[in-house]
Amino acid sequence: MNILLTGGAGYIGSHTAIEFIEKGHSVVIVDNLVNSNHFAIKRIEEISRQKIPFYNIDVADIANLDKVFCKHKIDAVVHFAGLKAVGESVQIPVKYYRNNIDSTLGLLEIMEKHNVVNFIFSSSATVYGNNNDIPYNENMLAGNCSSPYAWTKFFIEQILKDVAVVNQNFSVVLLRYFNPVGAHPSGKTGENPNGIPNNLFPYISQVAIGKLSELKIFGNDYPTKDGTGVRDYIHVVDLAKGHVAALEYAEKHKGAEAINLGTGRGYSVLDIVKTFEKANNVKIPYQIVGRRAGDLSEYYADASKAVLLLNWKAEKTLEDMCRDTWRWQRQNPNGYDE
Ligand code: NAD
Ligand code: WQD
Repeated sequence: MNILLTGGAGYIGSHTAIEFIEKGHSVVIVDNLVNSNHFAIKRIEEISRQKIPFYNIDVADIANLDKVFCKHKIDAVVHFAGLKAVGESVQIPVKYYRNNIDSTLGLLEIMEKHNVVNFIFSSSATVYGNNNDIPYNENMLAGNCSSPYAWTKFFIEQILKDVAVVNQNFSVVLLRYFNPVGAHPSGKTGENPNGIPNNLFPYISQVAIGKLSELKIFGNDYPTKDGTGVRDYIHVVDLAKGHVAALEYAEKHKGAEAINLGTGRGYSVLDIVKTFEKANNVKIPYQIVGRRAGDLSEYYADASKAVLLLNWKAEKTLEDMCRDTWRWQRQNPNGYDE
């Protein structure tokens, strides 16, 4: 199949491109590089030993998007493009709604014009909101979201479900990711945050390499096994393979289906620190500070629907996630800035 990856220069899109190519598919990437770097495309090409058609355009720019669809016969779309910083979305909500929702609407219009009906969407566990019990399962009512970012995912899911009602040929999988971490085992692609990272894994690896002096652990008074926050971390290569499985499913089915991509297992911040130290033989100095506003104490996936419908489950261990993160960081101390 010829698969269009919007946001394919980003963290998850780049790893997914590699897995699709590995399975014999062709990919076309559209990305405006607002949160990524063109060297990521070069690295995907290095790993997969082939040239990737890449277009530096905004997905909301439908005139140029149409040209891409005219030039390439697209069979399916995986829509990663979007702004994703939860805290920033609280500060600049209009920008988040405009970018994430407009790009999806434009994409849907062009897909309809070209009669493309298979769609995979990057949704998020944040759609489960603040009041659901854990583990989160897909039958729970989503909503009650805690940030504009999460609401964009919630609204886009609804838009896609509405399209599936009227277009009987449309097939969409709403993949609700938990906490993607890790890097490609080659060390050539990985997460490349701008400035000081917000998220735990890139922060820890920058402490390990000496760019940051110590990790600040946000709270040790949560009702969890050791008081620190618990999350369902999933290796980005497992997550990427989940997209390959989701597309195989989408081809054979119609309608909209929400599916969690997580491991089903929660680890605490202290679990991560200890495992990262042991797996990589490094020291992570840390200090306990106050809770971060907006953080939940603990959540993880009920990962059974993905097994049932996609015949997919995460295979990699927490040690793999820590080892691969560190290999990427060591080999690329300044990310993609070659
Ligand atoms: P990322 O920022 O690395 O990748 C997103 C890519 O989209 C970037 O390359 C960016 O330049 C591009 N982009 C953004 N707006 C665009 C637009 N209008 N037109 C063209 N390109 C545009 O993020 P990621 O971690 O790879 O996440 C991919 C998707 O998965 C996002 O939609 C994100 O919200 C979602 N998601 C991510 C996580 C996570 O923790 N990383 C968790 C759940 C869901
Ligand atoms: C993990 C744990 C922190 C940094 C975010 C988004 C979410 C999703 C994935 C898109 C928490 C603790 C962190 C640090 C710490 N993205 N922590 N010190 O917040 O679970 O999820 O990324 O959909 O929407 O919110 O991930 O990696 O920031 O935090 O103690 O410097 O690590 O409190 O318990 P989070 P994270």
